[in-house]
Amino acid sequence: MYATAFLDLPALQSASGTVTLPGSKSISNRVLLLSALSQGTTVVHDLLDSDDTRVMLAALRQLGCGVDVQGTTVTIDGLGGQLQHHNAIEFFMGNAGTAMRPLTAALAVLGGDFTLKGVPRMHERPIGDLVDALRLLGCSIDYLGNEGFPPLRIGQPTLQLDAPIRVRGDVSSQFLTALLMALPLASASQNIVIDVVGELISKPYIDITLNLLARYGIAVQREGWQRFTIPQGSRYQSPGHIHVEADASSASYFIALGAIAQGTGIRIQGVGAESIQGDIRFMDAAAAMGAHITSGANWLEIKRGAWPLRGITLDCNHIPDAAMTLAVMALYADAPTTLNNIASWRVKETDRIAAMATECRKLGAQIEEGADWLRIHPLPQGQWQRASIHTYDDHRVAMCFSLAAFNPDQVPVRIEDPQCVAKTFPDYFEALFSVAKAPQHNIPVICVDGPTASGKGTLASQVAQQLGYHYLDSGALYRVTAYAALQAGLDLAHDEDPIAALARHLPVRFEGDQIWLANSNVSEAIRTEEAGMNASKVSVLPKVRTALVALQHSFRRLPGLVADGRDMGTVIFPDAALKVFLTADAAQRAQRRHKQLISKGFSVTLEGLRADLEARDARDASRSVAPLKPAQDAVSLDNSSLSIEASVQQVLTWWQSKQAF
Ligand code: C5P
Repeated sequence: MYATAFLDLPALQSASGTVTLPGSKSISNRVLLLSALSQGTTVVHDLLDSDDTRVMLAALRQLGCGVDVQGTTVTIDGLGGQLQHHNAIEFFMGNAGTAMRPLTAALAVLGGDFTLKGVPRMHERPIGDLVDALRLLGCSIDYLGNEGFPPLRIGQPTLQLDAPIRVRGDVSSQFLTALLMALPLASASQNIVIDVVGELISKPYIDITLNLLARYGIAVQREGWQRFTIPQGSRYQSPGHIHVEADASSASYFIALGAIAQGTGIRIQGVGAESIQGDIRFMDAAAAMGAHITSGANWLEIKRGAWPLRGITLDCNHIPDAAMTLAVMALYADAPTTLNNIASWRVKETDRIAAMATECRKLGAQIEEGADWLRIHPLPQGQWQRASIHTYDDHRVAMCFSLAAFNPDQVPVRIEDPQCVAKTFPDYFEALFSVAKAPQHNIPVICVDGPTASGKGTLASQVAQQLGYHYLDSGALYRVTAYAALQAGLDLAHDEDPIAALARHLPVRFEGDQIWLANSNVSEAIRTEEAGMNASKVSVLPKVRTALVALQHSFRRLPGLVADGRDMGTVIFPDAALKVFLTADAAQRAQRRHKQLISKGFSVTLEGLRADLEARDARDASRSVAPLKPAQDAVSLDNSSLSIEASVQQVLTWWQSKQAF
């Protein structure tokens, strides 16, 4: 996840490959509860790992369900409709509506002594309609705080199920879902009829519920969207294994990506033509705009079809969330696109009509908007502008506008507060970068070169962290090479060819701040002064330097790179947009290194260190290949009397002036 203030997307060019999307939240929590209520063991595959599902799993454990979590595969030992524990259990539901409502209904029907609480925001989310419906059928539920809101206390019911149960359909479809999942537990001796009062909203979500109930052996009969009947004697039966579909709304970004980007196509794994999610119909809209889509039961493949895309006019009521993606696709079309019947956009995470209009305009597009519609005019080549996209704490705005990075003018796009995607898709940008490609010269590089112990590593890694960029510690590659050479019994001064051969296929891996050489963790071993000296010895060998070039270039990946070393700006990344030459006076550097080594338990003297540093710098600066010196276009930063924060800030300020948004 990118927890940075902003994320700069370089202009992207093509996209190819496969993405596996996170599981759907709505399906995940339904499946967990149904598995818990069932007879038998259910293995749930591809479960979404999110706050909401963690809350549900914790509650199921409290109820005495066997729960075994292995990554995204979760095994649930069902209760068979019988609670193991009913006494005085307090459940903490966080802010998980998809857990709170169905659990309330199931527990109220089963009966016990339960308290359900949540975070303060949960106590402001209405639950009165569900409680009213449950009370009418004889459930015992009390409000512990405000009438109509959690927290709730649940007791033993005296169920009256002869008359139809009435539930309002126009508030939240989650109430009906909750009843549909709870009432099969009480169907032993009669049919149970639920009547919906008022127009039912969010029908696709009820469809998901009915579909899943069928997988668990409950065949609800439906008359229009007004009456639902649970047949007498319905019993939950585990399906054995069940796969949670990937989230269809999340798929919309990758469907759009396949339609917009050049390349061999995008394959989406985990959701497909047989999806039970309403938002899967986004694929029809994308196809109408020109996407070339093929599909299987649980996969989709998308390629560019018509190009430019075709402008469309569409009633988007059935795909409100995914339709936002159409607005950005429309920028790449041949005619205006009008999205109608989207009034609900105004009351989502933010006013999404206003947000999409404002941000599209920042890119240079002409937009018209009404109370419940939006018209997007195509944005021709030559008119795209660099924009810093405000994301309104709305995951979908952030994900939509990442698609603007494919613009024909090759301008980068800044996404503010990128971590807002965590709501449904924490690794969205990682998934995007795994398939999107940019020409190498578009991927920004910041170089930090300078002498030993000038503080390059700390500065470079912190700048990388602030920008969400990759980090290359090139010194570590020389250190590891020297280490590996010694392990192999080579002579650092004379065995140039074998050391170069070793460097060319160096099995080095960086994992966070740990460095691995094949299967051994060498992080500590390569940090000694001696290892630094040895690195300096192998680094004068021209063939060794050449052998390490390709490896260093491979770190230049989306969305960008900060590299530190001696020749980053002069030799390895001569086209880098910002090159910093970092210095500090020798006394300062010796002192810093002294502190560092002492804190790690090495015994060294200040004088000895200073002599070592100077010897190392002299060798680095005087060698024939890639000697240590500032690149011609480098900016110098003497940090002898600067704090780390101030140095980082200085580099970020220089970077901002190069990357003006
Ligand atoms: O930066 P660090 O102290 O880890 O580097 C160890 C040695 O590796 C340096 O003294 C230098 O001789 C060599 N080196 C190099 N070119 C780089 C990075 C490090 O020659 N880009």
